[in-house]
Amino acid sequence: MFSSAFFGVRMLTKRAKETTPFRAMSVLERAQKMEDVVHLEVGEPDFEPPAEVIDSAIESMLNGNSGYTTSRGKIKLREAVSDYYQRTYDLDIGIDRIVITPGTSAALTMVCLALLEEGDEAILTDPYYACYPNFIRQTGGTINTVPLDISAGFAPNIKLFEESMSESTKVMLLNSPSNPTGSVLKNSEIGELARIAQRNKTTIVSDEVYHGIYYDTETHSILEHTDDAFVVDGFSKRFAMTGWRLGWIVCPPECIDVINRLTQNLVICATNFVQDAGIAALQMSDDLVPKMRDVYRKRRDVLIEGVEKLGVGMGYVPEGAYYLLIDVSELGDAFDISNRLLDEVGVATTPGADFGGSVENCLRLSYATGMEDLKVAIERIGKFIEDNQ
Ligand SMILES: Cc1ncc(COP(=O)(O)O)c(C=O)c1O
Repeated sequence: MFSSAFFGVRMLTKRAKETTPFRAMSVLERAQKMEDVVHLEVGEPDFEPPAEVIDSAIESMLNGNSGYTTSRGKIKLREAVSDYYQRTYDLDIGIDRIVITPGTSAALTMVCLALLEEGDEAILTDPYYACYPNFIRQTGGTINTVPLDISAGFAPNIKLFEESMSESTKVMLLNSPSNPTGSVLKNSEIGELARIAQRNKTTIVSDEVYHGIYYDTETHSILEHTDDAFVVDGFSKRFAMTGWRLGWIVCPPECIDVINRLTQNLVICATNFVQDAGIAALQMSDDLVPKMRDVYRKRRDVLIEGVEKLGVGMGYVPEGAYYLLIDVSELGDAFDISNRLLDEVGVATTPGADFGGSVENCLRLSYATGMEDLKVAIERIGKFIEDNQ
């Protein structure tokens, strides 16, 4: 007989053991086994990718494109990414600075491994995207967080960012539009942060996966301010292609070889025929993204009105992405409330603690779900509150 204690405990690394769960996915796993649940837990658009995108994947597959591609990715896709920067931000990003990846998550893995040594610090905001600390942990790096000002709609305090940095801060990880706050960095703020990073010899990694999904403040890229930064981005959000696993990295010219070597070894390449679908998606983005944005805006407004009426709203209006935080401290512990909302009224939410200590009294609601479902969710949350007052 084998002892599971030996295999289960002693063989695991410290980094693996310290990896925290991605609770949105754990809630999804539980919620998927249940019936009649409104899913507000994961940031997964309810749209299908456009028919043209699906058709190009099918056609590519039928044409036999099922082998490996180069690790950098298909030239045509890298050209389509380069074109996207040209028409969206008026930026000339050569294809020799672009590596295609199986999603933004893979891009983050590669970039963190390239930039952080054991003990190096990465600075990020609190709240943060739930998985960021774990990307950093896998490198042996340490995490420093800068609290955001909740009363100012989670705006960053740029001065505080600078004060919180030290010689060991090697990476500044930015995310705008932000998951979970929906706040969008102004172009001037991005410029300030770029200057602070340069003064401090810190490399900016800018996660731009929600770019294009903005309502008030337009999204701007770090690349408008400096070439000395890494951008990670992908197709999951604005093209509704979460399960397709496709993304990219833009890096400073001198780093492309190391990023490519990491990609060759760790993932080899993104799926061949999915890369062809990516070309079709990028070619349609100027039409597609504004339409999605309008739908999300309407949902956001309905959700805000609903939660404010229920007394759990936090009085801010997210300017991008598709998430809203609500404050459930008056109802009890947020973990407990999240579990009970699922079990008692069939509404799946993510506990705020996933996104940092500053929002542990909150739940994150995703409005990437349909309007009718959102209205049902508001009604059910209302009933839950009424029953528990
Ligand atoms: C801020 C942020 N970055 C990265 C990702 C991962 O994206 P992908 O599906 O491209 O790996 C997510 C997914 O929710 C996200 O919210």
